[in-house]
Amino acid sequence: ATQGACPFRGTRIGGAIGSEPQLDHWWPNRLKVELLHQDPPHANPLGHDFDYAAEFAKLDLDAVKADIKAFLTTSVEWWPSDYGNYGPQMIRMAWHSAGTYRIADGRGGAGQGMQRFAPTSSWWDNGNIDKSRRLVAPIKAKYGATLSWADLMVLTGNCALEIMDFPTTGFAGGREDAWEADKATYWGPEGWHGKRPTETPAGGGIGQPEQMVTRTLRWEGQPGEDHYDLENPLAASNQSLIYVDPEGPNGNGVPMDSARDIRETFARMGMNDMETVALIAGGHAFGKSHGMTPPTQIGAAPEAAPLQAMGFGWHNPRGTGNGADTMTNGIEGSWTPNPTMWDNDYLTNLFKFEWQQTKSPAGALQWTPVDPDAPKTPDAHIPGQMNPLMMMTTDIALKVDPAYRAVCEHFLADFYAFTTAFSEAWFKLIHRDMGPKDRYLGKEVPARDFIWQDPIPANDGYALSDADVARLKDMIHATGLSVQDMVGTAWASASTYRKSDKRGGANGARIQLEPQRSWAVNNPANLSRVLDVLAGVKADFGRVSMADLIVLAGCAGVEKAARDAGVAVDVPFVGGRMDTTQEWTDIEMTNWLQPVVDGFRNYTNPDVGYHVAAEHLFLDRAHLLELTAPEWTALTGGLKVIAGTYDGSAHGVFTDRPGVLTNDFFTVLTSMEYEVKPQDSREQTFDLVTRNGGETRYTATRCDLVFGANAQLRQVAEVYAAADGHARLVRDFVKAWHKVMMLDRFDIPEARRAA
Ligand code: HEM
Repeated sequence: ATQGACPFRGTRIGGAIGSEPQLDHWWPNRLKVELLHQDPPHANPLGHDFDYAAEFAKLDLDAVKADIKAFLTTSVEWWPSDYGNYGPQMIRMAWHSAGTYRIADGRGGAGQGMQRFAPTSSWWDNGNIDKSRRLVAPIKAKYGATLSWADLMVLTGNCALEIMDFPTTGFAGGREDAWEADKATYWGPEGWHGKRPTETPAGGGIGQPEQMVTRTLRWEGQPGEDHYDLENPLAASNQSLIYVDPEGPNGNGVPMDSARDIRETFARMGMNDMETVALIAGGHAFGKSHGMTPPTQIGAAPEAAPLQAMGFGWHNPRGTGNGADTMTNGIEGSWTPNPTMWDNDYLTNLFKFEWQQTKSPAGALQWTPVDPDAPKTPDAHIPGQMNPLMMMTTDIALKVDPAYRAVCEHFLADFYAFTTAFSEAWFKLIHRDMGPKDRYLGKEVPARDFIWQDPIPANDGYALSDADVARLKDMIHATGLSVQDMVGTAWASASTYRKSDKRGGANGARIQLEPQRSWAVNNPANLSRVLDVLAGVKADFGRVSMADLIVLAGCAGVEKAARDAGVAVDVPFVGGRMDTTQEWTDIEMTNWLQPVVDGFRNYTNPDVGYHVAAEHLFLDRAHLLELTAPEWTALTGGLKVIAGTYDGSAHGVFTDRPGVLTNDFFTVLTSMEYEVKPQDSREQTFDLVTRNGGETRYTATRCDLVFGANAQLRQVAEVYAAADGHARLVRDFVKAWHKVMMLDRFDIPEARRAA
């Protein structure tokens, strides 16, 4: 048979399952609705009902830690440890696992063990962390499903610090692994500042030329210039880096430029100057950098490496390719004379000596003491050999930037303060993306609260009986609040949740505190009126939290809206939420929960400079709310007709009976009765004009129309518009509503899961 006739194609390039071109190549700007259905349960080999918390409870944490600590000082032949201690390389593994987190959308971070998958698995900055994970794999195998990769990577970092005499603040388990690469996170467009290939072309092997590298879009200044334009939500100055280029922006070797880069990127992760210095100076008390081979000779990253590499990348042809020949980043050397012990030598030497630029064997720009009598550091592998100390441009930045310098001087004078600051910043770094403390598992969870955990008081036995709930509903109805008020306020309260870092949600009733009560999307004047009314109910009733009352009012509103449409429904309600305080609310960090585009309420944040069509950012919101395409559709169409829009505009309110849970949104949206016309050339708002008569009957935004324009969403919209669609819509709306109200209920995981 000819090749073309082969029934199972793919014998040549192309033709096999999934070969390019695919949808995205033909239509790169299409709305990727399928992003809502990632990492499905059937991709999880542990099964649909896997309950990680229950498995983790079986774990003897002391035994695991003892195993990890023993492994750290047992060198293996295929990747010998530096200084006989894998600790430093494991700290780097944990830090890079957590360090992708960014506050803008809460994505990245250690929470799902995403470092196992592309693209981060193959970032240049994660060089040789494939080896670190493989080294720790026997521990993973021993404990199986009781210990996730995500938890293991972080825990190994903690154990490494502990064996090198560093007091950690604690460890919480509870990070459940993902089972496929995440396609939703935007990591930015470019390669690594024109020096090194991050991806090699298909079939790539050793010594790829630099054809895949594009210019950096993020930092375009000359040394000393201040032009800095790091696109939101990114938190790394370059693609393929965790934060910043160790050689300075674009490798320019200018410490002050580097300081500005560090400040911007660490702030994007919610770290202030003190925490930033503590982390960098603390981390670089340990281990070394590896730079023995020119990067052009290094093989492809794991994702592009040949099959026989079995998941490893960055093949190094020099000598043994490891040990004394190791090539990771390109910079070579250690920061301190004793790289496997916690001490203050990093800052001491940074300040005691003048440093001058030099080059590593791989050609990277680094710094070495001017004084030939400065202390030396032992070679990691060759007995008796002593090497000069090394600093990176990013390390020198801590000395030359005045604000960083002040922190360094404080730490230099007070080692205890430094130790405490690093310990707490490290704890924050590795737990930051876990969300509320209710998710923390295990006996090493610190008792104290940290404000970055968005603390909510623990429930001290408060609960509402069925009779309480019924009475409260009657009291709420008696206030005369409208369906719009009830549903809109509950939605505003719950829909701040984001699944990325598990922040936000109705619990805590932060909607009555700053900054949420003043957000434009919440229509502050109206919100304050509704909250006053609900506070009156609370005063009359007695023991009920505002957080519960707000959600319960929403449920009562949805029931009324359905009843008025002729369908009797009970909207599920699970009480037990607690109210938190202003003191325990970090205003700046809470502001990051403000939606950029919230198409449920037709709100667009005017202050945020994303150059993306509104419906794409609305999809992002739906993704952060863990919604499926049908749930997203039902909620949008239902909320528009019953709760209206944030500013009371008519956009998307395709009904003559506002406040009633009809399927009117969908019948209008899919009807051929109307022609859609942009109101102006910006194509943000539109008129729905009758074909017959030319009368503008409704107006809409992109976030409304996308449910009629996008093929996948239109299919769903048509289901709800059909003759049998109304009952289905009410049922699906109520289900999705309850799910959103429960998204943050990590205090009662079973009820959350059931929703
Ligand atoms: C190693 C850069 C912050 C912990 C390295 C290496 C580079 C680097 C280039 C060498 C990798 C290699 O060739 O093996 C940076 C930059 C930072 C930063 C640019 C931020 C400005 C941190 C932080 C920590 C940390 C916050 C932890 C709290 C470590 C450790 C090593 C290391 C322990 C040694 C790894 C080993 O011995 O194998 N860093 N780092 N670094 N980094 Fe950082």
